[in-house]
Amino acid sequence: MSTKKCPEYAMEDYRHLREAGALAAYILDYITPHVVEGISTIELDKLCHEEITRHHALAAPLNYEGYPNATCISVNHVVCHGIPSNQKLANGDILNIDITVIVNGWYGDSSRMYTVGKVSNRAMELVDAAYDSLMLAIDIVKPGTRLGDIGHAIQSFAEARKFSVVRDYCGHGIGRVFHDEPLVLHFGSPGTGMMLKPGHVFTIEPMLNIGGYKTELLADNWTVVTKDRSLSAQFEHTLGVTADGCEVFTLSRMGLDRPPHKLGQK
Ligand code: MF3
Ligand code: CO
Ligand code: CO
Repeated sequence: MSTKKCPEYAMEDYRHLREAGALAAYILDYITPHVVEGISTIELDKLCHEEITRHHALAAPLNYEGYPNATCISVNHVVCHGIPSNQKLANGDILNIDITVIVNGWYGDSSRMYTVGKVSNRAMELVDAAYDSLMLAIDIVKPGTRLGDIGHAIQSFAEARKFSVVRDYCGHGIGRVFHDEPLVLHFGSPGTGMMLKPGHVFTIEPMLNIGGYKTELLADNWTVVTKDRSLSAQFEHTLGVTADGCEVFTLSRMGLDRPPHKLGQK
């Protein structure tokens, strides 16, 4: 049982979260046409960082607990916290780009999957399940919902499709700090855990695997991979509980929430 206090923000604070969330979403929109075969993940990181800076914001991951880059880019069997590198994207790759920005001291955290060329049917099913599990969890967020309801919604949806849910990493409270209370598990039992109230602000960021749920931390102390090296997919939004539901701060304004990304079409 955690004894740390879960912050409750004022509804007026949501204005700042909206601003930070909108920028995180915009960066994920902005990078979309650049995610193509042959580009390296460090080049994608550099483009994102430059665009964040141009908006007078900070990239939260950079130097966070010693993290070396502005973004996390997790390709194929990398679950999360992938360090941008000279690795070039190849046909059939699936990848997650995770952006956290700080705008006037407020955090916005969001990640999406991207696909390169033609990906396998099962990989696309995984990506779709990760997205759908996030959105169906968001659908039940309102005052009175409990954290276990969120975890259960995600877990039951994923497991019905024969995907596993990563246990070792979870969503988190966010606002004026990056990682806060509550801990938002993506598995669990209905009717358990903290009850949500207006002013609770947190992320939901389910990671689903084709194989088992177990993860392994690589020697760089950041990169998290599936233990069985099966593919993993994740989407993340930052949201705040309102009087009668929730507000998602990190929605795409360009309809680019999920692949396949139809560019040049409104
Ligand atoms: N954005 C990640 C999250 O969703 C955290 C990245 S921390 C880093 O919580 F140090 F790895 F960048
Ligand atoms: Co997060
Ligand atoms: Co994130």
